Amino acid sequence: MASKMEADIKEATGLSKIKTGYNKVFGYYFEVSHSKSEQVPDYFIRKQTLANAERYITPELKEFEIKILSAKDKIIALEHELYQQLRNDIKLVIKDVQETARALAELDVLGSLALVGYEENYICPTIVMNGQINIRDGRHPVIEKFLKREVFVPNDIVLNHDDEEFLLITGPNMAGKSTYMRQAAILMIMAQIGSFIPAREASISPVDRIFTRVGASDDISTGQSTFMVEMKEVAYILENATHNSLIILDEIGRGTSTFDGLSIAQAVVEHICKHIHGKTLFATHYHELICLEESYSKLKNYTVAVKEKGKDVAFLRRIIRGGADRSYGIHVARLAGLPNSVLKRAEVILESLEDQSHDTSDLNNRVIGGQSNNVVKTTTKQASDSPLGNLFTHSVVDSLLEVDVMSMTPIEALNKLYELQEEARKGGGK
Ligand SMILES: Nc1ncnc2c1ncn2[C@@H]1O[C@H](COP(=O)(O)OP(=O)(O)OP(=O)(O)O)[C@@H](O)[C@H]1O
Ligand SMILES: [Mg+2]
Repeated sequence: MASKMEADIKEATGLSKIKTGYNKVFGYYFEVSHSKSEQVPDYFIRKQTLANAERYITPELKEFEIKILSAKDKIIALEHELYQQLRNDIKLVIKDVQETARALAELDVLGSLALVGYEENYICPTIVMNGQINIRDGRHPVIEKFLKREVFVPNDIVLNHDDEEFLLITGPNMAGKSTYMRQAAILMIMAQIGSFIPAREASISPVDRIFTRVGASDDISTGQSTFMVEMKEVAYILENATHNSLIILDEIGRGTSTFDGLSIAQAVVEHICKHIHGKTLFATHYHELICLEESYSKLKNYTVAVKEKGKDVAFLRRIIRGGADRSYGIHVARLAGLPNSVLKRAEVILESLEDQSHDTSDLNNRVIGGQSNNVVKTTTKQASDSPLGNLFTHSVVDSLLEVDVMSMTPIEALNKLYELQEEARKGGGK
């Protein structure tokens, strides 16, 4: 429309170089160079003078401008009206639309599960109500699809309330502990939503909920550290899990110092075994915990088979039977709301561990008491044997602390240093 007006005005005035433009101050205008400004007709109203040109408006251009600008408002109003109309129309049939959408979504889910079950050789699990879970040659439906160089190794999952209620899984990093536990959880979900599952055969007792504590995350924006998040999740599980739940705990207590972490891990195992009795898979690198099998008849140790080839280790992926300073972990656990009994037990264990030794290298030799409070039997060096122990108890240190460095001359300082060195040499037998 603007270009038609420009063409018309060019023809009417004979000003072939006339241009149409727009700015926020004057709206639409015609621009004519100074050399031609003499030729503009009388009805042109000058609005602005530039270095090379004059800008004009005309009554017709103003009318055009009003039309254009009001058109935008009209567009918005029309759009709104149409949208309202659409909403009102849909409102009349909203129930049908929602039901159709829901049905299509359900069909989509069921169709996809059926298709994947058919293509990937899933089986139909038998649902039983005896509290037992027996999965033979189960696979992780996602990992088995992602593996490129390896074949997925199937594993059995046996859980019940008799002798396999709590599976304590130890084994090297990368062995497949986490995969195994997540596999158990995902197979249970699939079975309970009515899907076929990737296994050779399976009979499954439904669980009331699946509780998991896996991976590491933090929520620093709300002031929660990685360990705080971990403890809050454990607290929630201990608070809410029941006899009929499936509990998956992956490396509880790894986010803090060894003693704090180990103490919390053991206290959590004990709490579940004594008070919750839920079916539990518990992976840990605290190998000391395997001796709990002696104290709890329903706790069984499992590990992931590996084969040593010289210095290399081959992961067989088969689950088999067998088996610093304060970090204030317990304090954080308390803040997170862990049950008092667990905290108290953790404190007792921690105290014993700390009394016995600060030498973490001997940790694997430790035997941790199960039911009783006497926790650690171990042969470790006393702290005073360590270089650090010597340093802070040696008489040289006392002498050093008595020296008033600021009031000494350089030669006095040098002499003192020589004297202390001699004393240290004698004390250290050098
Ligand atoms: N059954 C399996 N068959 C084939 N590959 C597997 C199997 N289980 C695990 N893997 C492979 O091994 C990798 C490591 O497994 P996973 O993370 O479960 O080990 P992990 O024992 O939990 O190690 P970490 O102690 O370090 O947490 C997986 O990402 C997967 O690729
Ligand atoms: Mg893991």
